Order: sequence, then C-alpha cells, then structure tokens
Amino acid sequence: MKDYRFGKNGIMALSLVITVLVRVCFSHAADRSELVNVIKTIPPNGPFWKYGTLEMRRKTKKAGMAAAVFPHWSHRARYTCRVCHEELGFSMRAGDTGISRAQYVSGKYCGACHNGVTAFTVQEGAVRHCDRCHMKDTAALEKQFDAFAEKMPFAKFGNGIDWAAALRADGIRPQNALSGEKEILPLPEKLKVPMKLGTAAPRSDVAFSHEEHYLELDCSACHPDIFNIKMKGTKAFTMENNIFGNYCGVCHMRVAFPMNDCKRCHAQMSGSILP
Ligand code: HEC
Ligand code: HEC
Ligand code: HEC
Ligand code: HEC
Ligand code: HEC
Ligand code: HEC
Repeated sequence: MKDYRFGKNGIMALSLVITVLVRVCFSHAADRSELVNVIKTIPPNGPFWKYGTLEMRRKTKKAGMAAAVFPHWSHRARYTCRVCHEELGFSMRAGDTGISRAQYVSGKYCGACHNGVTAFTVQEGAVRHCDRCHMKDTAALEKQFDAFAEKMPFAKFGNGIDWAAALRADGIRPQNALSGEKEILPLPEKLKVPMKLGTAAPRSDVAFSHEEHYLELDCSACHPDIFNIKMKGTKAFTMENNIFGNYCGVCHMRVAFPMNDCKRCHAQMSGSILP
C-alpha cells in the first residue's frame, strides 16, 4: 500500500532538515560532546554468531528462495581475507558483487569452493544441498557457532572471538590461496614498524600495524581505495568517518572487531568515554 504521510515536498523538507543537522554536527572537528554523540551511533553488539554473517537476498527474493547465508566466522577460520577478496574477486561492500546462480554454477564465487570437492556442491543432483546455503532457519548454524567459539580466545565485541590472538596462537590457520599455500612477498622493512596515527585529542593515539594486517590482507585491499598511501594524506580520517563504515570502519564495523572495542586501537584510553 502506498504511504501518504509524506508527500514529495514533505520528503524534501525532511531531507533538508537532516542535511542541516548533519552539517551542524559534522562540519568541523568534533568537540567532546559532539564526539560522544557520534560514538553513541555505534550500534550495540548483536548476537555473536550474527556479526559478519550476511543474508544475501538481492536475487533470491525475486526467485522465491530463502536468502543465502554467508558466515564470515566459519570461512575466515579456513581462508584469509585475501583468498576471497583478492583471488576470487568478492567485493567488501555487501551486495556489490551481484552473485547469480548462473555464475556460481559455472565455478565462480561460491562455486570456486562449493563444487563437491572442497565443500558441498551448488549443483543440482541426486543429493541437493540448496538448503545449506538458502537457509529457512539458522538454528543449526547458531549451534555450529557455539561449538566453534568455545575453543577460541574471547573478545568482548564482534563475534566474541579475538581473531588476532587466535591467529598468533595458531588457534586458526587460514590458508592464503585457494590452491593451498602461496608465496607472500615479504613486507618492506620500513612497514614493519607500527605507525602512529596521531590525533590532537588526548589519549586517542592509534598504533596501526601493517604486519598484523598483512597476515590476512594484500596491499590492494586498502591502497588506494580506502587509504591514500601518502602518510597523513588520507583526508577526514576521524572517528565519525570510521564509524560510518569508511577507513578503518570498512572492516572494523562489519567483519574485524568493531568500533565498540576502543582499547584495541587506542591502547592508552582508560575505558569508554561514553557516560
Ligand atoms: C554455497 C551456497 C549456495 C548453494 C549450495 C546454493 N546456492 Fe543458490 N544462491 C547462492 C547465492 C550466494 C545466491 C545469490 C544471493 C543473492 O544475492 O540474492 C544464490 C541465488 C540463487 C537463486 C536466485 C536466482 C539467481 O539467478 O541468482 C536461485 C533460484 C538459487 N540460488 C537456487 C539454488 C538451488 C536450486 C540450489 C541447489 C541446487 C542452490 N541455489 C544452492 C548460494 C548458494
Ligand atoms: C570464503 C570467502 C570470504 C572470506 C575468507 C572473507 N570474505 Fe569478506 N565477504 C565475502 C562475501 C561473499 C561477501 C559479500 C559480498 C557481496 O555481497 O557482494 C563479503 C563481504 C565482506 C564485507 C562487507 C560486509 C558488509 O556487511 O557490508 C567486508 C567488510 C568483508 N567481507 C571483509 C572481510 C575480511 C576483513 C576478511 C578476512 C578477515 C574476509 N572478509 C574474509 C567472502 C569472504
Ligand atoms: C574459498 C572457499 C569457499 C568459498 C569461496 C565459499 N565457501 Fe562456503 N564453505 C567452504 C568450506 C570449506 C566449507 C565447509 C565444508 C563443508 O561443509 O562442505 C563451507 C561451508 C559453508 C556453509 C556451511 C556452514 C559452515 O561454514 O560450515 C555455508 C552456509 C556456506 N559455506 C556458504 C557459502 C556462500 C553463500 C558462499 C558464497 C557467497 C560461500 N560459502 C563461498 C568454502 C568456501
Ligand atoms: C588494512 C589496511 C592496509 C593494508 C592491507 C596496507 N596498508 Fe599501507 N597504510 C594503511 C594506512 C591506514 C596508512 C596510513 C595512511 C594515512 O595516514 O593517511 C598506510 C600507509 C602506507 C604507506 C605510507 C607510510 C609512511 O610511513 O609514510 C605506505 C608506503 C604503505 N602504506 C604501503 C603499503 C604496502 C606496500 C602494503 C602491502 C604490503 C600496505 N601498505 C598494506 C593501511 C594499509
Ligand atoms: C581491509 C580490512 C581492514 C581495514 C581497512 C583495517 N583493518 Fe584492522 N584488522 C583487520 C583484520 C581482519 C584484523 C584481525 C583481527 C580481527 O579480525 O578482529 C585487524 C586487526 C587490527 C588490530 C589488531 C588488534 C589486536 O588485538 O592485535 C588493530 C589494532 C587494528 N586492526 C587497527 C586498525 C586501524 C587503526 C585501522 C585503520 C587505520 C584498521 N585496522 C583498518 C582488518 C582491517
Ligand atoms: C579500529 C580502530 C579504532 C577503534 C576500535 C576506535 N577508534 Fe577512535 N580513532 C581511530 C582512528 C584511526 C582515529 C583517527 C586517527 C588520526 O586522526 O590519525 C581515531 C580517533 C579518535 C579520537 C580523536 C578525535 C576524533 O574525532 O577523531 C577519539 C576521541 C576516539 N578516536 C575515540 C574512540 C572511542 C571512544 C572508541 C570506542 C568507542 C574508539 N575511538 C574506537 C581508530 C579507532
């Protein structure tokens, strides 16, 4: 049914109000109270199993199939981000890849692994596995998560799993290429020193480690699309922008530990600045 509450003009007026509000709030360096308001927009942590679990329904909805569910937590335990986001060409923006059944049946995207050899197949046949992706309910997946997470180092947010610690302790050993191992070029010496991303605000220093990220990601995951390679060249590199899914927030709001976990980036921060 059509909604008559806002006419076209109503919508324009509303968007003007929003634009003005956004301008007022974000056009200059946020002072403390503004920043607190910005930080309050971080969504609360949902159920651990759900973080990084995507429900893909762009094409399924029209076709009358249940949404295809893609859990990052189970796949990242087996493969590094580079396998899917470089080698197989999945986008890091949900919905962006535009995966269709025709593509994955011919061996692209999900079909590169879900071929009956590496993982259960996408093909039609005597045994159909359609429901294992096109899930009518997620109870079994949630149970699988609980069993998996129990063995992993704990973190407060995101999946409730400290993935960095799991990697360091060999709790997970994701492979770097579809075919098994791949020679990864050594990281240039000068990038081995963690970079200080300074800010004017007290105790908000961030140490960014290229080395830690290079374990999972290639340079092209971040340069030049997310970060300008020229130090400090990345414009408007603030918390607001991070929170709205830019810069660090491209990953650290969706798959890697989320922005709620202040201390993991701001080691000197004593707690939360939230009231
Ligand atoms: C490995 C996971 C996986 C399996 C197994 C799988 N699918 Fe899909 N399927 C997907 C994904 C991902 C999409 C795209 C979802 C989207 O964005 O809407 C999709 C989309 C579809 C669509 C939407 C139409 C289109 O052109 O894309 C249909 C229909 C479909 N699948 C049928 C099936 C059938 C039938 C089976 C079993 C024989 C099956 N799928 C098995 C992952 C899977
Ligand atoms: C097995 C394959 C696979 C692996 C491994 C993988 N991803 Fe993804 N990722 C996907 C798929 C599929 C999508 C959805 C793409 C689409 O909808 O077009 C996605 C989407 C994303 C998104 C967007 C999510 C959103 O909600 O907007 C981010 C961010 C992301 N991945 C980061 C990562 C990071 C970081 C890693 C490594 C820790 C990783 N991915 C590992 C397959 C993978
Ligand atoms: C790089 C390889 C790879 C890609 C790409 C991949 N998967 Fe998987 N997936 C696996 C493996 C390996 C398993 C576990 C083996 C099995 O259960 O047969 C798995 C299992 C799953 C499961 C069952 C739950 C679990 O994790 O055990 C779902 C659901 C799933 N995949 C969905 C997808 C969808 C949807 C896509 C594409 C958007 C996709 N996968 C792409 C390798 C992959
Ligand atoms: C997870 C994201 C990420 C990955 C992956 C990544 N970088 Fe960076 N890189 C950054 C950030 C953030 C900066 C700082 C940008 C700024 O301050 O504007 C940076 C800065 C740099 C700089 C400037 C350093 C300086 O001291 O001036 C160089 C050079 C660089 N990266 C090279 C690389 C190379 C080579 C790789 C692959 C081996 C790589 N980066 C992988 C995020 C990344
Ligand atoms: C392309 C994806 C991506 C981007 C962009 C990114 N990260 Fe990460 N980062 C990861 C992944 C994946 C991990 C591994 C831990 C996890 O998944 O929770 C990680 C780990 C870290 C860790 C290590 C935590 C620990 O306990 O050892 C820190 C600190 C960190 N990131 C800070 C940053 C900062 C600051 C930025 C922005 C300048 C940034 N990251 C941008 C993907 C990303
Ligand atoms: C994934 C890493 C990451 C996490 C988690 C994170 N921050 Fe930040 N934060 C940054 C980066 C990057 C900057 C900008 C650094 C720069 O200016 O070079 C920043 C800047 C700041 C600043 C300086 C002022 C400003 O407007 O940019 C404050 C204050 C701050 N963060 C507070 C917080 C609080 C509070 C939390 C937890 C709710 C948090 N941050 C979580 C990465 C992070």
